Amino acid sequence: MIILTGSTGGIGKELIGHLSKIDKVIGVYNKSGSKAVDSDNISYEKIDIGRASDIRSFAERRKRDFLRLTLIHSAVCSIDGLFATYKEADWDKVMRINLKGNFLLTQALLPHMIQEKWGRIIHISSVVGMKGRVGTVAYSVSKTALLGMSGVLANEYGRFNITSNILNLGYFESGLAERLSDEAKKDILARIPSKSFGKIRDIAYAVEFLIKSGGVNGSVLTIDGALQ
Ligand SMILES: NC(=O)c1ccc[n+]([C@@H]2O[C@H](COP(=O)([O-])OP(=O)(O)OC[C@H]3O[C@@H](n4cnc5c(N)ncnc54)[C@H](OP(=O)(O)O)[C@@H]3O)[C@@H](O)[C@H]2O)c1
Repeated sequence: MIILTGSTGGIGKELIGHLSKIDKVIGVYNKSGSKAVDSDNISYEKIDIGRASDIRSFAERRKRDFLRLTLIHSAVCSIDGLFATYKEADWDKVMRINLKGNFLLTQALLPHMIQEKWGRIIHISSVVGMKGRVGTVAYSVSKTALLGMSGVLANEYGRFNITSNILNLGYFESGLAERLSDEAKKDILARIPSKSFGKIRDIAYAVEFLIKSGGVNGSVLTIDGALQ
């Protein structure tokens, strides 16, 4: 079973279709009313991943489905602002979803992975986070912090055949990148050798690779088309 958070987002709503060809998928969302994709292999759960009680009731309700779990953390909150004037409330919102949500959901599902001696945890990060683009302080911190989150998981649970890796994404056709100005998009395309944004299917290929590869643990796989 694959659990994909952010399943109704720009990337998630296409990615979930590709993933459903690999295994059954539970797509997690928070506010979007409609189900993104209709398929026998896909079910959806409405969970606020920053709320422990939501996660506890999800883990109890769906526990019979938690076999050979792959957990993909793609849910995100991104609020831009310059460092000097960045609002504390915005900082808290971003950390609540991007980090606390990841921590709470992983912690709730780890016992199932340990029991089965098999698990795959995949954290979706961003080259923006790694490079510290102007105006992204909370988002960037939340993404670089995934290095710590993933590394600890890799070291603590590798002995149970549980791997934890990061997919470090460049710019894709949908989702957060869609909200960039035309000028920003032009600037980014000029820095990608192929002059095109990433394809979501490439993320699915990487997920499939990480599901199959028990020896790839604690790694960061960048999919950015050699962005300069
Ligand atoms: N798009 C890109 O080019 C790009 C580039 C680099 C990295 N990334 C990374 O790729 C991932 C997906 O990005 P995206 O562009 O698809 O983002 P997006 O379009 O903004 O989608 C965000 C998703 O997160 C969910 N979410 C937000 N708050 C939540 C909460 N409290 N509980 C549960 N779910 C919640 C949303 O569900 P609701 O709508 O239901 O609230 C939605 O499905 C992110 O981790 C992002 O950092 C994207």
